[in-house]
Amino acid sequence: MSNSEGGLSEDGLSEDAPAKLNLALHVRRRRDDGYHDLETVFAFTDFGDTLMARPGDRLTLDVVGPFAGAVGAGDNLVLRAARALAAAAVDGGAIGGGAALHLDKRIPVAAGLGGGSADAAAALRLLNRLWCLDWPLDRLLPIATDLGADVPACLYNRTMFGTGRGERLQAVIDEATAGLPVLLVNPGVAVPTGPVFEAWDRLDRGPLHPDLWRDGRNDLAMPAVRLQPVIAEVLDALSATGATLARMSGSGATCFAIYSDDAARDRALDEIAGRRRWWAVATAMRAASTE
Ligand code: C5P
Repeated sequence: MSNSEGGLSEDGLSEDAPAKLNLALHVRRRRDDGYHDLETVFAFTDFGDTLMARPGDRLTLDVVGPFAGAVGAGDNLVLRAARALAAAAVDGGAIGGGAALHLDKRIPVAAGLGGGSADAAAALRLLNRLWCLDWPLDRLLPIATDLGADVPACLYNRTMFGTGRGERLQAVIDEATAGLPVLLVNPGVAVPTGPVFEAWDRLDRGPLHPDLWRDGRNDLAMPAVRLQPVIAEVLDALSATGATLARMSGSGATCFAIYSDDAARDRALDEIAGRRRWWAVATAMRAASTE
């Protein structure tokens, strides 16, 4: 197994919570339950949050890192994931449900990078180990699905084709994506997901073929730009840096750009960082890491 399985630090266990990208995202239909049927290719980056855990009598969470202040500790998805797993495991008579959790929050919040979902999925994987449940990921899947539309994809942390709300998943051969140099740029505006979907014009622009994500679209870009026009500036700036692709991720506001090599990506980072006070991170697409 691999680095997504996490490691054993001096203090306890740790698990990566990689940032999620939607390489393309086609919205097809508004459903009666208020959600939208979509087709998307999920991919993950080497950049992300880290979640650590030590044994504890009670369930506690402390958060550090550049975006710690933006995380609500009360209704945090990490704690909801932990409680949901404890409830499922206690049904089976297995555990007490305590843990001292520590989150290093580097992924911006409400940014289209699935940060909260990544943290929740990491909590499921981590506590599955700390509590010695050792369930296969597929057994964690129903809990992940209840926590949010992106949490199932984050549970597997590999390139996947998602349909339905994004929770029906099929593995995609990710040789085409693994290791690709990526630049992530966020103009510093938080964009809640619900209102962006709500602002979609309900025009079905056609299906997404999982292998043809480069030719695809993000149908949420237009409504997101309407709510936060600065996103269009980010996309224009990235397109001007020689990227092979520049696109918004999820419901925004983070946009990503893919480059032919690391040097081109790093030059782009310098250009963007030199001109604007935007959040920007140079990273690479993560290789398949579970199974
Ligand atoms: O599932 P999650 O809580 O992450 O979704 C946040 C919001 O995004 C939902 O309440 C819904 O308004 C919107 N959404 C949607 N269709 C999806 C996924 C999310 O309308 N496929």
